[in-house]
Amino acid sequence: MTYQAIHQAKAAIAGATGRDEHRVAIVLGSGLSSYPGGLSGAVEVPYSEIPGFPVPKVEGHSGSLFSAEVDGVAVMVLAGRVHAYEGWDLTDVVLTVRTAVASGCSTIALTNAAGGLGADMAPGDLVLISDHLNLAARTPLMGPNDDRLGPRFPDMSDVYSKTLRDLARQAGEEVGIALTEGVYAWFLGPSYESPAEVRMAKVMGADLVGMSTVPEAIAARHMGAEVLGISLVTNMAAGISPTPLSHEEVTTSADEARDRFTSLIDALLPRLLAR
Ligand code: HPA
Repeated sequence: MTYQAIHQAKAAIAGATGRDEHRVAIVLGSGLSSYPGGLSGAVEVPYSEIPGFPVPKVEGHSGSLFSAEVDGVAVMVLAGRVHAYEGWDLTDVVLTVRTAVASGCSTIALTNAAGGLGADMAPGDLVLISDHLNLAARTPLMGPNDDRLGPRFPDMSDVYSKTLRDLARQAGEEVGIALTEGVYAWFLGPSYESPAEVRMAKVMGADLVGMSTVPEAIAARHMGAEVLGISLVTNMAAGISPTPLSHEEVTTSADEARDRFTSLIDALLPRLLAR
């Protein structure tokens, strides 16, 4: 079922973009979805025109795939994602990323907005995800395994490729953005964490908290793709932040970081595509 859905979506994307293969996919998180505006010659395909693709409804997430060529290599930008807290099955949540991998994307860059709890972190920081904690205790691999997609028991010792993190750091240096690293803890949401939950996550080794990314990273690794994760710290996590958290704070912070985020991705893309 999933296998068929992936291949139907892949065929629709190839038909709509005129490109049978893409090499790199970038998933844009909350408030970061204006990025494709700067991609020259991009072809937009609304998710609603790709069979099976889940259409996001949350404010700050649009739902379109953009296909473009950079230095002669095809890149797919997935602007908008859905979350488990909206009621979606994780199979649907990860269909976009699985389709990207099936379409030839051996590199998947996942971006998100996150709460920061690491020492020295501040809103506006861009942080490379070094590892994750699956505190939602759900996985997109639940159920029978389809061996055509990947193994029953995929290794998770190097989910967020060290090589890709090094490339991202180089791209950051080129454009004057210092990238730190941190462990991302996935909470189901949609309520923000309680201060006690944030303290728990900190004791467990987390530096970032958020409501996405982990299922997509697991699915991409299951299919053998390399994953890069980048969090934009939009706020300090609950109990650390002096003010109550709100979605407005998250989107306002993301808007403020837009130019830096865009220049980082612009510097990073050629490096990802050259591999
Ligand atoms: N918690 C969870 N998800 C988030 C946060 C947060 O503090 N900020 C942005 N996304």
